[in-house]
Amino acid sequence: MCGIVGYIGTHEASPILVAGLRRLEYRGYDSAGVAVLDGDRMVVRKRAGRVRVLEEALDREPATGSCGISHTRWATHGPASDRNAHPHVGGRGEPAVAVVHNGVIENHDSLRRELEAEGFPFRSQTDTEVIAHLIARELGDGNELFTAVQRALPRLAGTYGLAVVSPRCPGEMIGSRLGSPLVVGLGDGEYFLASDAMAIAPHTAQVAYLQDGESVRLTTRDFEIRHQEHGSITPRIDRIDWKPDAVELGGHAHYMLKEIYEQPDTVIDACRGRIRRDEATARFGGLNLATRQLRRVRRVVLAACGTSWHAALVGEYLIERLAHLPVEVEYASEFRYRNAPLDDRTLVFVLSQSGETADTLGALREAKRRGHPTLAIVNTVGSTIAREADGGIYLHAGSEVGVASTKAFSAQVTVLTLLALHLGRLRNLSFGEGMAVVEAIDSIPGAIGRVLATEPAIKAAAERLAPARSALYLGRDIHFPVALEGALKLKEISYIHAEGYPTAEMKHGPIALIDRETPSVFVAPRGSLHAKTLSNIEEVRARHGSIIAVGTEGDDELARLSDVFLPIPDVPEVIQPLVAVVPLQLLAYHVALLRGCDIDKPRNLAKSVTVE
Ligand code: F6R
Repeated sequence: MCGIVGYIGTHEASPILVAGLRRLEYRGYDSAGVAVLDGDRMVVRKRAGRVRVLEEALDREPATGSCGISHTRWATHGPASDRNAHPHVGGRGEPAVAVVHNGVIENHDSLRRELEAEGFPFRSQTDTEVIAHLIARELGDGNELFTAVQRALPRLAGTYGLAVVSPRCPGEMIGSRLGSPLVVGLGDGEYFLASDAMAIAPHTAQVAYLQDGESVRLTTRDFEIRHQEHGSITPRIDRIDWKPDAVELGGHAHYMLKEIYEQPDTVIDACRGRIRRDEATARFGGLNLATRQLRRVRRVVLAACGTSWHAALVGEYLIERLAHLPVEVEYASEFRYRNAPLDDRTLVFVLSQSGETADTLGALREAKRRGHPTLAIVNTVGSTIAREADGGIYLHAGSEVGVASTKAFSAQVTVLTLLALHLGRLRNLSFGEGMAVVEAIDSIPGAIGRVLATEPAIKAAAERLAPARSALYLGRDIHFPVALEGALKLKEISYIHAEGYPTAEMKHGPIALIDRETPSVFVAPRGSLHAKTLSNIEEVRARHGSIIAVGTEGDDELARLSDVFLPIPDVPEVIQPLVAVVPLQLLAYHVALLRGCDIDKPRNLAKSVTVE
């Protein structure tokens, strides 16, 4: 979603800003822009389209100066256009201020009317422009920039991560945060501001995360953080752990493919240091809950969005199976506004790759507001969810750049398998049963590796799926969430409509869709309900539907019933989702490739959804 990069120092700002924006491209956006100060001269360049288009504009008409802000916009209010791109300028005459903004201003309509009545000219359809004019109005009243920003902010209802510069106050930059992340990077005689530490990671490892209600003033010499209500804040400096090559393509055509191929390592990294063989269990350092408290738990709630929600559904099956605890999986966006009953024996987890998803953060805050301890399963270290949760488990999956989540799903399911094992071993799961799970987990990386080696066959299967307008993904029991995830992958990167269903549900409606043009993808490794799945496949065949099946290698009957059979190794049921999802990821990838889609930047999607 929208990205912010700011720089103040002694170097030319534009190249640093553009390089920073490039590092945020993976988040999804549709226009980009910069505002650069050269003394008291401010140049704004902004363009609809890719960062490349902005860069070309800057090549033709450079914006020189060593202080500037920049932005990639993901349209919310008003379509993607040069005018609606950020930065937005404020002031009645010559622009007094330039602003970039992540988030949504809910009362922008009434503010716009008020400001228009006072003669502030509006040039865009965005909600952001009111912020620029509000700050300009405060500047006009003789306030210095930091004070002007802080005086304007209470007028805003909604969420923001902001970066602000003013030609009237050269040599400083202001950032503010409420509900949308912002991080300060500390360099040598230079400072950076970004919505995602990844944008500034090549320049510095030292960062200070702003908290909600805080603003920062940056100059080339120092920085100062103030809270809207509590005044000056002593910043906490963190180090970001970032490997320079972690975001390179490493010879793969796309980040998505690279991340699919990383999954054997993802599983190993998610397990590292967490398996206790002597006790046939798993342990987590960060849960901050005593064994006694975990034994008291009678119910688990898992709240998440999108792919993380699918991982949570796999978790539901695993926790119920291994620990016999009732689990409810909630859409975070629903949970946060529902009055879902929680008691002190309910364990609430939120799951998020980015750790910044607005609805998941909202769910976490709602549980906290009700006095409930909250736990998070998160990938991004230092993200808002990671910092606000009372305890949690990191995925250690490294940066996930591909917009379509793959390795984060695998890391989440791995962690949930370990969690189910841990909760199970605190209850009814015997040593032998626990050890069988540990051994199954040990076999996952090898099994995924073997599926990856079947990519040529998956590529051939993609040719059958690529012309389709619609597809069904079907799975039973623990494979139902895998079917949902496979369908999501297909629709988000290839734009083919796909629906995931529990296999037997097909008869209750979706079967009406089956015809020669609508393929069904069955997730059907051998397991307790396999015979029933085979009957369901027969039902589709009887209606001339074509069948792609993911099944256990050597399953001749399934192979005979399918038009395309994609084998996976014979592994225990508890880890089958981690292995069975891989052919579906590759299938979606190759379908998208055949259809000429922009795989790492699918239309309309954002990597981190920081608005509701
Ligand atoms: C799909 C995908 C999204 C995210 C969802 C939640 O490939 O990536 O569905 O899973 O937006 O994001 P996180 O996990 O960052 O909270």
